[in-house]
Amino acid sequence: MPPIRSTEPLWTLTPRAEGEREPSPSLARDLVADCVVIGAGITGLTTAYLLARAGKKVMVVEARHAGAGVTGCSSAHLTEAVDTRYATIESDFGHEGARLVAASSRHAIEFIAELSGDDVGVGFTRLPGYLFRDEEHDGGVDLEKELTACQRAGLPVSSVLEVPLPFKTSGGLRFENQGALNPVGYVSMLVRRLRALGVVVQEGVRVTAVDDGEPSVVHLERGESLRAMTVVFATHSPLNRVFLQTKVASYRSYLAAFESKARLDGLFWDTADPYHYLRSVTLRGADGPRSWLLVGGADHKTGTTSETDASFEALDRYVARRFDVGPATHRWSAQVLEPVDGLPFIGRNTLSTNSYVATGFSGNGLTFGTVAAHVLADAIQGKENPWAALYTATRVKPLAAAAQFIQENVDTPGHLVGDALAPGEVSSVAEIAPSEGKVVRVDGRRVAVFRDAAGALHAVSSVCTHLGCGVKFNPAERSWDCPCHGSRFSTNGDVLDGPAIAGLERVVLT
Ligand SMILES: Cc1cc2nc3c(=O)[nH]c(=O)nc-3n(C[C@H](O)[C@H](O)[C@H](O)COP(=O)(O)OP(=O)(O)OC[C@H]3O[C@@H](n4cnc5c(N)ncnc54)[C@H](O)[C@@H]3O)c2cc1C
Ligand code: FES
Repeated sequence: MPPIRSTEPLWTLTPRAEGEREPSPSLARDLVADCVVIGAGITGLTTAYLLARAGKKVMVVEARHAGAGVTGCSSAHLTEAVDTRYATIESDFGHEGARLVAASSRHAIEFIAELSGDDVGVGFTRLPGYLFRDEEHDGGVDLEKELTACQRAGLPVSSVLEVPLPFKTSGGLRFENQGALNPVGYVSMLVRRLRALGVVVQEGVRVTAVDDGEPSVVHLERGESLRAMTVVFATHSPLNRVFLQTKVASYRSYLAAFESKARLDGLFWDTADPYHYLRSVTLRGADGPRSWLLVGGADHKTGTTSETDASFEALDRYVARRFDVGPATHRWSAQVLEPVDGLPFIGRNTLSTNSYVATGFSGNGLTFGTVAAHVLADAIQGKENPWAALYTATRVKPLAAAAQFIQENVDTPGHLVGDALAPGEVSSVAEIAPSEGKVVRVDGRRVAVFRDAAGALHAVSSVCTHLGCGVKFNPAERSWDCPCHGSRFSTNGDVLDGPAIAGLERVVLT
């Protein structure tokens, strides 16, 4: 069987609970909600659930469908072994900071476990996690130093010589009592619980602007508006927030699923940079259970390469050298937002009185998104929260962040000026092959043109509607991706990933 081109996550095999597709009557009425949550991923749905459970009047507004964002693309490892090494967290945020990261992550795992119960669709399981050294891919993490920092932070961790993988490793760290689930099943369970509490989850409605005030006004793309005393931006990438955008960097991370009867007993991450992540998944369909090996990695900064197929090929090669499996049945990619100082930004938005954000979760957003929901729900109810100060969204940590900050933002001014002046990638649309996208100069203007398999041309402006950088074609996912802050657009110009809110302007080629 040849490798498939699909970019659908494995989880699309799972049935999902839908929200309201038609405009809900409660949206049209002149209500003032206690909170409007923008975005129905794990962060938004959990925040809405905690607020609704506390008796608050909440609405959720989602541009696509619940779970359609990064949550539905996740590999769904639930772990305290966060991407930023504890030795680094300890050095940048102190011993207490590291302890709070561990404690908040543990709280998130236990909260998810309790809420999931024995829901078959969620399939929550407990299993150990391993940070291991692969001789071929070793990023040079000092595992002894990490062990000591993890132990000081209170994690259930030990050093092991043998890692239960079917290929050679040189030892690693074992974390007890971690978790895994089906992220689409979990989102569905949250939607069902919200409905039972009377909360409307409005799908297929994009928010275009928010006027901060008392109440704030949330503008929807079809001209309606909502009023709310507080607004939560649970949109993964904060919408059009320039200050926060300079503090997170967008990466594409790639995943592939290989049908396999042999199961891995644990969650696994190697010490490479970018790292590989592995787990087994079993889904129960009408024809019985089927199991897959899930392997992720090969990350790169969004919009900086046209060789996106190469990331899937790298995963295929990695797997072929280590596992006895056939070609991938599913392949997909999604956005990881890396915070400049290593920890997420959660809390009240800069320069705003009533809006809240949660972003910069790295590859740990199922647990950090759950932590964020607790921090935000407490803030909105005026309650103390033990983790709020650590993750505050308005923090600036010059020492911890400086090197990374410069590295991640150095290219943006160059793109803003250089992209507008650059020549086209080809001199005419006639040079664009079927299934290919190129930027072409048409009447002096840079136009992003995609030719579909049937030969039809789809032309849109190449200027990103966020702050004006030039987009680049992503052949693996057939999208236009922006290198500056990671916005992505379909070949017809529709927004796939923020921070952009408006689509790319359509261009008529004459
Ligand atoms: C390949 C990959 C693997 C990962 N694996 C793991 C893992 O194993 N464990 C882990 O903990 N984390 C993992 N992560 C990270 C984690 O999946 C994310 O951080 C997390 O799901 C983010 O959840 P969220 O609710 O904040 O965002 P999302 O799930 O992206 O939800 C945001 C929602 O907002 C909506 N939205 C955006 N703009 C608007 C608008 N203008 N109006 C209305 N709605 C809007 C979007 O449509 C979307 O549904 C992984 C990430 C990737 C990319
Ligand atoms: S995402 Fe910011 S300019 Fe494109």
